[in-house]
Amino acid sequence: MCGIVAAIGIPNAVGVVLDGLASLEYRGYDSAGVAWPENGALRIVRAAGRVSELKSKVETCDTTTPETAMGHTRWATHGPPLERNAHPHVSADGRISVVHNGIIDNYATLKERLTKKGVSFKSDTDTEIVANLVAEQFTGDLLQAVEATLPLLDGTYALVVMSPQCPDMLIVARKSSPLAIGLGDGFTLAASDAVPLIPHTRKVVFLEDGQVAALTAGRCEVRRDGQAVPCIPAEITWSAEAAMKNGYPHYMLKEIHEQPVTLEAMFRNRLRLPRTDDADPEFMLDGLENLSDDYFRGVSRIVLLAQGTAYHACMVGRNLLERTTHIPAYPEYAADFRYRDPILDPSVLVIAVTQSGETMDTLHAVRLAREAGCNVLAVVNVVGSSIAREADGVFYLNCGPEIGVASTKAFTAMIAGLYFLALRLGQVRGTINRQELLRRARDLLGVGARLNGILASDPYIRAIANRYRNAANFLFLGRGTGWPLALEGALKLKEVSYIHAEGYDAAEMKHGPIALVDENMPVLFIALQGRRYDKIIGNIQEVRARKGKIIAIASHDDREIDKLADDVIYIRADSGIMNSICCAVPLQLLAYHIATARGCDVDKPKNLAKSVTVE
Ligand code: F6R
Repeated sequence: MCGIVAAIGIPNAVGVVLDGLASLEYRGYDSAGVAWPENGALRIVRAAGRVSELKSKVETCDTTTPETAMGHTRWATHGPPLERNAHPHVSADGRISVVHNGIIDNYATLKERLTKKGVSFKSDTDTEIVANLVAEQFTGDLLQAVEATLPLLDGTYALVVMSPQCPDMLIVARKSSPLAIGLGDGFTLAASDAVPLIPHTRKVVFLEDGQVAALTAGRCEVRRDGQAVPCIPAEITWSAEAAMKNGYPHYMLKEIHEQPVTLEAMFRNRLRLPRTDDADPEFMLDGLENLSDDYFRGVSRIVLLAQGTAYHACMVGRNLLERTTHIPAYPEYAADFRYRDPILDPSVLVIAVTQSGETMDTLHAVRLAREAGCNVLAVVNVVGSSIAREADGVFYLNCGPEIGVASTKAFTAMIAGLYFLALRLGQVRGTINRQELLRRARDLLGVGARLNGILASDPYIRAIANRYRNAANFLFLGRGTGWPLALEGALKLKEVSYIHAEGYDAAEMKHGPIALVDENMPVLFIALQGRRYDKIIGNIQEVRARKGKIIAIASHDDREIDKLADDVIYIRADSGIMNSICCAVPLQLLAYHIATARGCDVDKPKNLAKSVTVE
């Protein structure tokens, strides 16, 4: 989605903004632009394509003096990704410039009114309307003009507004789209998330919905409804290095390899085993103070809300929650849930699962659930994100920034986080006995180390990937928790390699997908030993009979499967539900290596955005 960076009071402000935009590339975009005040007017440079193209254009300008600048990476919504639609946009009278993330729903009505007044537009965007509305209100006080404009806008926005007549001030505002403000010694920055701020400052204010702020050098005055509100910065602890590639060729590969560490870090200080087996493990939940044990005892139903990869984690989570808490649990696509008039009451616990904490559909579904009187527990990675702030309780995944557009480490962290919550709830409700609780708590603590063994087979998986790099289609099949894994394996492959891939419950195979199987169709089976193993072997036989190419993810001690499969990835997986986490890693590696063998840009797949902050 669109990315915003702005700076005031900093030497080489244009360079700072351009570097910040480059660090936001992971969000996905198709054009970029930057603006700064110059000789009482605005200088705007824009380019379709990458930030590197924008940088080359800016190199021809003298940018040594300005200490104020703002920039934007655009992910096209209104109008194609052309230079004239790239931000910043300027009012027709040249006095106001705006960068914007979000969508103005009533832009057509506003545009019609402005057009009747004689305003002419140069772009197809909704943002250009905002610049003109602010210009209409502007009589010298930029903050007042923005505050007068915002009530006219229906929709969502993070905005930065600049005027050459107020070169020492930027105004920012937020409604449903994220905006972080970084406070430095004598300078102030703003950005769509904290990543561009980290190299300059660790003091960050996350603007709340409905807030407007006036940024000046080293200062930030936050207001709501025309009144000043306190602005207390949070201290960001992520290292700048954590947001870099750390020697790996791609963020995706780095993030896949980080999983043993991220999973171990998740439970550090949160899960303590007893000295002897006659006591319970302790689950420490620091973000759930608002939700009492009595409340958890009274929960009648759990609804898990998410989109994409996070939804697949919820499908796994449902099994964990039902088994350990005996509460019926239902994973739901947030986008469908919010428009379906779902049946809710205060005894329903809603768990929103999201890496970014900004996915628009998930955010709106959370709001709907809260309006219906439900408590919302957020399982989130990004600290201070919208969903984390609006939920009644938060379980942070603590896996550091996930930059690769395809979600990897957040997926396994979500499963582990949901498992942790399931065990805690089972303990509170008395639906899991001590022996079982201890066994499962040990599994959780050991899962990170288990992944090291699987990651060691990376070169072997790469060799398999090379054999399938030219496939046109792929099927992924699994049963039980293997089903969401099959969905996730297919999603990973298609988003990074552009190979058409489908995931199914293997039981569904005979109900349709088997029609596609022939000697050109690779079929990946999640075939770990367990309750449904025999059924999966039956499905493998059926594919083999139709000459399909078979890749199996199998248990390390399976002696039979290599007689049936063309390629086998063995994993040491013998702890039930933890197997989902173990299976995710070879699926991620396979997708990564097939995509890189095809020369795809795995960290920034075409048409995809890291954080989907529009509907
Ligand atoms: C796929 C992927 C997306 C996200 C989805 C939800 O690799 O990354 O499917 O999982 O857009 O995003 P979050 O988790 O930020 O709510």
